[in-house]
This record gives sequence, structure tokens and C-alpha cells, in this order.
Amino acid sequence: MRIVALVSGTGSNLQAVIDAVAAGDLDVEIAAVGADRPNTGGVQRASAAGLDTFEVNFRDYADRAEWNHALTQKCLSYAPDYVVSSGFMRIVGEEFIAAFDGTYLNTHPALLPSFPGAHGVRDALAYGVKVTGCTVHVADAGVDTGPILAQRAVDVRKDDTEESLHERIKVQERELLIEVLADLASRP
Ligand code: GAR
Repeated sequence: MRIVALVSGTGSNLQAVIDAVAAGDLDVEIAAVGADRPNTGGVQRASAAGLDTFEVNFRDYADRAEWNHALTQKCLSYAPDYVVSSGFMRIVGEEFIAAFDGTYLNTHPALLPSFPGAHGVRDALAYGVKVTGCTVHVADAGVDTGPILAQRAVDVRKDDTEESLHERIKVQERELLIEVLADLASRP
């Protein structure tokens, strides 16, 4: 099973996937790692692991449609079975979703459909929920929407900050993503 991973940030979830593949625990080929902005930690991690990388910098394109087209073509060029958003913080358009219909996966640090968006951890904390968690789902054209593949719950502690809670969620999120990828890779 070939995947392309998309990142916008530090790429710690991606690192867990890279490590699982390197350890022989996950039968997946990471064909490339792409970003929507320059100098992401995720692309640096991928380069350090000797993986192919690309940047389709949102700011280099006249509008969202042109950027979306370039991203779609770049991802298609690797002929992946799945594209995995691993902290990719840009909403992709219809052309991308049509090209990767049912094969675009996303991880999110909340129990969807609660608290979608860029601040899932902050929003859950502000609401005062006692349990939150993480979700891996098939992404559609919405913001963190689409069929849910797997979730894990994480208790909120009284003294949690956004950072402390996100770190505990990420521990679960990394395992969950690897579990889902392993399950998909095991299918005929
Ligand atoms: C992850 O928690 C991921 O779920 C979240 O960004 C973080 C990236 O961390 N994504 C979203 O919030 C998408 N709405 P990482 O760069 O360390 O893997």
C-alpha cells in the first residue's frame, strides 16, 4: 500500500508512521511527503528519513483553485492508494476530493463530529468536556467531515492546558493512525 502524507506542521504523527515502517511494524510505502508551506518540520523529518518530499506552497498560486489543482496533480503523480493528512491544515477542494474519493484520510484531535476545525483541542477544553479524544476518518470536502474509521477517548484533567491535553491526545492519535493504516494495508 502506497501513501502520500500531507503536513503543515511539526509532523509528529508522520514521524510515528515513518518509525513504524522503518521498524517493520507497518507494511506501507511512504511514496512522498508534501506540505502547503515552506520549512515544515514534517518535510524536514521526511527528508531526514530519506523520503521524497514536495511543497505546493499555497502563497505561490493565484487562487485556491490553482493551488488545489497543483496539489492534486502532484499527489496523483505518486499513484498512491491513500493520501493521509497528518496535520495538514488547509482545506482541499472538490478536484482533490474527486481524485482521491474515499482514499483521503485525516486525523483530528477531537471526537468528531464534535470540535472540528483548526482548534479542536482548544475548543473542547473551552467547552468544558470531560472526555475528548482523536478521530481518523475518510475526509470529504468539508472541514473534518466524512466517514469515521476509528476513534479513541482521552480524559480531560482539571489542570490541563491546550498543550498538555494535545500531547496526551497525540500519543493516542499516533497509535490510532498506525492501527488504521495497518488495517487498510492488510486488506486484499
Ligand atoms: C494533530 O493533532 C492533528 O490531528 C491536527 O494537527 C496536529 C498535527 O500534529 N490536525 C487538525 O487539527 C486538523 N483539523 P503533528 O504535526 O505533530 O503531527
